[in-house]
Amino acid sequence: MQFDLLTIFPDFFHGPLEYGVVARARQSGLLKVNLHQLRDFTHDLHRTTDDRPFGGGEGMVMKAEPIWECLQHVTGAAARVQRHLIQPAPARVILLSAQGPLFRQADAWRLAAYQQIVLICGRYEGVDERVAEHMADEELSIGSYVLSGGELAAAIVLDAVARLIPGVLGHEESCRNESFGGGAASSEPDEPPLPGILDCPHYTRPVEFQGWEVPEALRGGHHAVIRRWRLKEALRKTRRHRPDLLPEGMPAAWQSLLREIEREAGPPSEDESLP
Ligand code: ADE
Repeated sequence: MQFDLLTIFPDFFHGPLEYGVVARARQSGLLKVNLHQLRDFTHDLHRTTDDRPFGGGEGMVMKAEPIWECLQHVTGAAARVQRHLIQPAPARVILLSAQGPLFRQADAWRLAAYQQIVLICGRYEGVDERVAEHMADEELSIGSYVLSGGELAAAIVLDAVARLIPGVLGHEESCRNESFGGGAASSEPDEPPLPGILDCPHYTRPVEFQGWEVPEALRGGHHAVIRRWRLKEALRKTRRHRPDLLPEGMPAAWQSLLREIEREAGPPSEDESLP
């Protein structure tokens, strides 16, 4: 799989690309990352990539032309329409922006099916809207906050997608059995992933540290007990931290574990019951 990153700060990516899973994926050839300096696609002495906004106002806007030219260089055709007519869907052009829909684990799985992903990193107050409208296939935001540029967001999308490329992670299961992967629930390898909840807690040696013990259920080597404990604790964490992830039509086993958790938690404290 190939990523092409369009940015005015290519050096920014040296850290994210040179460690851990992403670095190994690149070394093994499963992942190729090309960095493109947008200033190389300007034609003025100052290599200008921004300009004042039409209508006035604070800040500068990233210009459309260098992005267009760089996209032509990268994909062979810049406009989405053109590209799709010539070559159906091997590449996906994405603009990172605080105005995009939220990037979720399901998007990471969806994007992992492409051969080429092009990430456009905005800077300044914003990017000329013609990039989102006519050049990108989609916009993505990594969260409900404003960053000073799309580079951090691009590094996050790249990392989340790269680790899903078959062969990149050691065990095929290791990306299913984690938060949002449907893992704690779908413990059988041939079952389709269930709606994702948060991952269960993990422990390693020593059994006791500073008086804090590893839960008994994980220590006995009884697989059914371990599986039940993991699902229950994944549900407990999800209920506490991300109740929005608990699906509507939950399996009966989940519902019964949640009732158990609710009984254990007791009535909500005054703080929790406030709107
Ligand atoms: N650029 C600025 N803020 C961003 C965000 N939240 N996600 C993606 N790109 C951004």
